[in-house]
Amino acid sequence: MYPYVYANHPFDVAGWDGYHYPYIFSIFNFEPITGRIHMPPPIHQTFENANFVICSFVPRLYDYHPEAIPAPYHHSNIDSDELLYYVDGDFMSRNNIEKGQITLHPGGLPHGPHPGAIERSIGKKETGELAVMIDPFAPVMITEEAVKIQVEDYYKSWLEENEK
Ligand SMILES: [Fe+2]
Repeated sequence: MYPYVYANHPFDVAGWDGYHYPYIFSIFNFEPITGRIHMPPPIHQTFENANFVICSFVPRLYDYHPEAIPAPYHHSNIDSDELLYYVDGDFMSRNNIEKGQITLHPGGLPHGPHPGAIERSIGKKETGELAVMIDPFAPVMITEEAVKIQVEDYYKSWLEENEK
């Protein structure tokens, strides 16, 4: 982190209307870091505060090492739940996610690409996916209305066809 000192306090400026900078950020203007090998999740982070972070997954080049595997690795997020809103495009690591769906992976629960997604990703050059993730630092509380519309067998989507 680098200190940046303004010459004048922004609240003292004539015409200041009180908003906090930056008050809006379009993910269409976001250009995440890409690399030869798989970059860690923080390259997608667009906002941070004391209670959660927001990551934006936008169209980008995949890892470009000749032997790179673009699919993300399996992992457990021990710091937070992961709430992912799939906005648009093809979600390479998922087999049966549709636009508009939201997934919730509770903190600590191992998860990763669906069966076949790792193999499918090899040789792919770029993604057009658009998704937004919220990582809250306290467990997400699920409403009764959300329970009514949940995909009951989502947890089985990691099983091979012959295991369901
Ligand atoms: Fe995750």
